[in-house]
Amino acid sequence: MAWPEIHQVVVMSLVLSQLPVCCGSPDPRHRESLMSDEASRQTGGNLLLTEAELKLSAQLHKLKEQEMASLDFPPAMHFFKAKPLIQRSPIYRLLQRMPKGAALHIHDFSMVGVEWLVWNVTYRPHCYLCFTEDQSVRFCFSPLQPKPVPQCSSWVLLKTWRAKIGNTTDFDNSLIRNLTLFTEDPEDAYPNQDAVWKRFEQAFVSAWGLVTYAPVFKDYYYEGLSQLYLDNCMYLELRALLPETYELDGSTHDKAWGLKAYQDVTRQFVSEHPDFLGARVIFTVHRGLNASMAMEAVEEAMFLQKSFPEIMAGFDLVGREDEGRPLWYFREALSLPSERGVNLPFFFHAGETDEDGTEVDGNMLDALLFNTSRIGHGFALLRHPVVKELSRKRGIAVEVCPISNQVLKLVADLRNHPASVLMSEGHPLVISSDDPAMFGASGLSYDFYEAFTGIGGLSSNIGTLKELAMNSIRYSSLSPERQKEALVMWQRKWDKFISENSR
Ligand SMILES: *[C@@H]1O[C@H](CO)[C@@H](O)[C@H](O)[C@H]1NC(C)=O
Ligand SMILES: *[C@@H]1O[C@H](CO)[C@@H](O)[C@H](O)[C@H]1NC(C)=O
Ligand SMILES: *[C@@H]1O[C@H](CO)[C@@H](O)[C@H](O)[C@H]1NC(C)=O
Ligand SMILES: *[C@@H]1O[C@H](CO)[C@@H](O)[C@H](O)[C@H]1NC(C)=O
Ligand SMILES: *[C@@H]1O[C@H](CO)[C@@H](O)[C@H](O)[C@H]1NC(C)=O
Ligand SMILES: [Zn+2]
Repeated sequence: MAWPEIHQVVVMSLVLSQLPVCCGSPDPRHRESLMSDEASRQTGGNLLLTEAELKLSAQLHKLKEQEMASLDFPPAMHFFKAKPLIQRSPIYRLLQRMPKGAALHIHDFSMVGVEWLVWNVTYRPHCYLCFTEDQSVRFCFSPLQPKPVPQCSSWVLLKTWRAKIGNTTDFDNSLIRNLTLFTEDPEDAYPNQDAVWKRFEQAFVSAWGLVTYAPVFKDYYYEGLSQLYLDNCMYLELRALLPETYELDGSTHDKAWGLKAYQDVTRQFVSEHPDFLGARVIFTVHRGLNASMAMEAVEEAMFLQKSFPEIMAGFDLVGREDEGRPLWYFREALSLPSERGVNLPFFFHAGETDEDGTEVDGNMLDALLFNTSRIGHGFALLRHPVVKELSRKRGIAVEVCPISNQVLKLVADLRNHPASVLMSEGHPLVISSDDPAMFGASGLSYDFYEAFTGIGGLSSNIGTLKELAMNSIRYSSLSPERQKEALVMWQRKWDKFISENSR
């Protein structure tokens, strides 16, 4: 008999020996012990909780039972429809106040609610607008009438345009709609992934001229940190393209300027908010690049890492995985750092796909082979048991972004999100929001709500939330000393939160 079969027999007999020997009803103590074994395996299942934490957990459990019994259980609905319900949820309001630790997966141009872009930035002097042929808009700051560019034959000064319209409410709302994916009927507007990604990329291009204007670039980032701070997050790792930014006189700045700007603004923000720990930047390039451009990008990343070790955390590739090149295509570029003995940590997006077995579906394995520090999304992880095991053994956390996965059409009902399995077995994971502004979300609280009520179901409890928050520090790029400091700061906030909210 081959070994695996013997093994199977042994395992079977072990399981059988634990089952009650005789007839009749199963032994309730045995049932109890199996159930508690299972509960101990979930995220936070092994934490020892205080009396006050257990009390708050019981309150949350009761609230969750009520919300789950409702016909309109928010995680089962599209976020665009669920959002007003979530805002009324007492669980959500509690999660807003909860110290959530770090946001480890957020992109540079989707940090700040777009209302701020429209109501603040487009009202600044010298802001021009152009309507494109495909019903979209572009912006640009300029002292004089800008020249026509492809897609944009004529620019109008927003100040003049608004004066002509008089009542600008509807117009400003249309700009807001241009900059997000929000729509009343998402199922109809976005019948498939192609449609939703097309709009996603269009909204991104529309925001480009606003956020790459150098003065706005800094204000936008400051505003983004403020919004995270208000949502009770204390640290950020920002995926950033470091695009060329421009001044009113047409002069431009390079990537080093952008990184320095992030560093300066972070320092300023921390000095004004001493209970905010700071931020680091993961430099990202588009995965549509060819091999030689990728080599250049990695060279540049190594240079930036060396020049700005405080703010620079590492490197990643972004853009729709299904459309871009697989990580394996970039293997030569991605091997450069280790060949040169340079430390350039990777934080790869991988497994944001439902196309099982494709080349792109191999990205998670390749991410691990290239020694990634975390896996962005890992939506396809369950289909790869070996990768899953490696990620668990090596403590490579999965960055779960529930609302993003739903809006971008990988899963409709968040109770069926694959992370529910990962959570039930205590796989290393953190919760993040990816592109909150594009989805009409903000900070981390909406995604925590979806993870806690939808993905975690009734099994997730205060221990789950506590572990998720601590994970966000544990799996950050911070040095061990900084992590210790962060955990102490977080624990103080947590204890205060518990004592103020448990009754
Ligand atoms: C826009 O935001 C900046 C700070 O980022 C602030 O100083 C300014 O007052 C705001 N302007 C308007 C019109 O809200
Ligand atoms: C401007 O238009 C909006 C929407 O059409 C309307 O609700 C609002 O009352 C108008 N404001 C003024 C001052 O007329
Ligand atoms: C973008 O704004 C323009 C101008 O107001 C409007 O005509 C268009 O419908 C908007 N597009 C979207 C997708 O909302
Ligand atoms: C790679 O892309 C760059 C920029 O698009 C282009 O100039 C270059 O020719 C490409 N290289 C190859 C080998 O295709
Ligand atoms: C893997 O990455 C970690 C953290 O970035 C680094 O310390 C380690 O040396 C790397 N190992 C290899 C084999 O490249
Ligand atoms: Zn992302």
